[in-house]
Amino acid sequence: MCGIVGYIGRNRAGSIMLDGLKRLEYRGYDSSGMVVSDGKGFEQIKSTGRVVNLEEALEEPQLGGNLGISHTRWATHGDVTEANAHPHTSSDGKISMVHNGVIENHANMKKFLAEKGYTFRSETDSEALCNLIAYHYNKEPKDGEKNPFLEAVRKSLRHVNGTYGIAVICSDFPKELIGARKGSPLIIGIGNGENLLASDVNAITHCTQNVVYLDDNEVVHLKNDDFSITTVSSKSVEAVIHKVDWDTSEAELGEFDNFMQKEIFEQPNSLKNGMRGRFSDDDSTAVFGGLNLNAQELRQIDRILFIACGTAWHACLVAEHLIERFARIPVEVEYASEFRYRDAPLDKNTLVIAISQSGETIDTLGALREAKRKGYRTLAINNSVGSAIARESDGGIYQHAGPEIGVASTKAFTSQIMISALLALYLGRLRDLSYGDGVEIVKALRTVPEQVEELLKQNDKIASIARKYAKYEDCLFLGRQLMFPIALEGALKLKEISYIHAEGYPAAEMKHGPIALISEDCPSVFLAASGEIFSKSLANMQEVKARKGKVICIATKGCDIPDGLVDDLILVPECHEIVKPILMSIPIQLLSYHVALERGCDVDKPRNLAKSVTVE
Ligand code: AGP
Repeated sequence: MCGIVGYIGRNRAGSIMLDGLKRLEYRGYDSSGMVVSDGKGFEQIKSTGRVVNLEEALEEPQLGGNLGISHTRWATHGDVTEANAHPHTSSDGKISMVHNGVIENHANMKKFLAEKGYTFRSETDSEALCNLIAYHYNKEPKDGEKNPFLEAVRKSLRHVNGTYGIAVICSDFPKELIGARKGSPLIIGIGNGENLLASDVNAITHCTQNVVYLDDNEVVHLKNDDFSITTVSSKSVEAVIHKVDWDTSEAELGEFDNFMQKEIFEQPNSLKNGMRGRFSDDDSTAVFGGLNLNAQELRQIDRILFIACGTAWHACLVAEHLIERFARIPVEVEYASEFRYRDAPLDKNTLVIAISQSGETIDTLGALREAKRKGYRTLAINNSVGSAIARESDGGIYQHAGPEIGVASTKAFTSQIMISALLALYLGRLRDLSYGDGVEIVKALRTVPEQVEELLKQNDKIASIARKYAKYEDCLFLGRQLMFPIALEGALKLKEISYIHAEGYPAAEMKHGPIALISEDCPSVFLAASGEIFSKSLANMQEVKARKGKVICIATKGCDIPDGLVDDLILVPECHEIVKPILMSIPIQLLSYHVALERGCDVDKPRNLAKSVTVE
């Protein structure tokens, strides 16, 4: 997704924004650019490809100036060209703007503006808004009490159908920076004698830990050492300053080769951090501070609906199994993008829970808003403090997994599963789950970080297995019950970073179609946890072997696997049912990671993908 960094202050805008853009690279983009103002006019530079291309094109003077806006673009309207890269500058040169989101009525805007003499240099929807701001600015009285630049921005935004996160500067106001958001995140960084705008807090934590999260339809007017927020309709808004709950070093690579590797190996800590302070030994249950639902209200919940996208949706499927098993509450799981428009009839005592690492996924945010509009109580399991989903849900549970930079979600996934296990424990102990069962679950969860630490020691073994399978172009992931969501996640991990066509299925479903794919050229990865249906998984493996399919089996220690049945075996520690999904996730992450490396893929910035999908 596109990234925004804006700066106003006493330091060098260009250098600070370039550093910020580099911190946004993980979000996925295809071009970048910036405009810097030194008070005498705009210096604009744009380039396609990586931010390093922009850095090489920038000359010393362009890095100076105390005001600027910059952008990494993930193309929605218009090809990947320098002309389509942001910032866009109005045809009269007065206004420069960067934009995240989609201006749905850009065609009518362009037609109107062309009739007023404005011209266009790009194919983008964003340029229409830039010229519209210039149009309103030129019409504003310049000697009145109101700030014509701010008025022009607010008037223009009232004409926008669609979504935006924008940063705007005006050549007549070299000491002012304006930002606004509707459906696309925008954060204000409050510095000392300087202020920043960013689409993602990662871009500015090297300058400040004090941030304000803009809400939809809000406009911020920034100066060096002051700022004010209003709505698009000019009503003033009180700013709430948050302290970023992790330091900037956590978003840096350190001694790792890439962020995906770092985040896979951070999981013992991210799991510990997510559990910290969330156990009650006296009552053998979990403790949450932000549900905003008391025990009585929770006991009245007779159905839970989870909504999410991608990996987070797989975490919802795990949550479904755990909550139904340990809390005996019926659970449904829906893709957020489907629920949002499906008009599903729900029981009135349904609790809707959104799971989202970024807290900004527009499909999940839209589904959450739809649930709220219909009066359902909502919660969010989320890894980004202050994100839209966190702020708009009625309550929630922060994952505290630390920033996840790699596009392929790893530590956030196991964190979401762990939070789901804690929630299943908490809800179960409000109902029929016994004290003794609670003690076992608390003990199992507390042991998970060290078990993950042990599992990560199999990295080299898994890497050598991965190298054997990197040449295949197809792969099946198969698992039953609680292992089916992990099979889906394994398939998603492999496909999104190695570009192998991988699919996940319930193992028993193989016979209903997918088995037609089995051949020497299509290996299968089985997630075979011990338990009453392990023998069924063995039978499925035999069906694959009988058709010359290769089998990689990930199983819990103690499973009796006949010699010669599997081609490669990865064992995870025997453990409580509730933690099996976490432990079985580690090998599939490492497997996909090493296959992708073997295939020379960029594991942190896979093609076509973005870390936070803020467009529909
Ligand atoms: C997972 O590896 C992907 N990057 C993607 O499916 C992601 O899980 C999905 O876009 C949801 O993101 P969110 O958790 O930030 O809402």
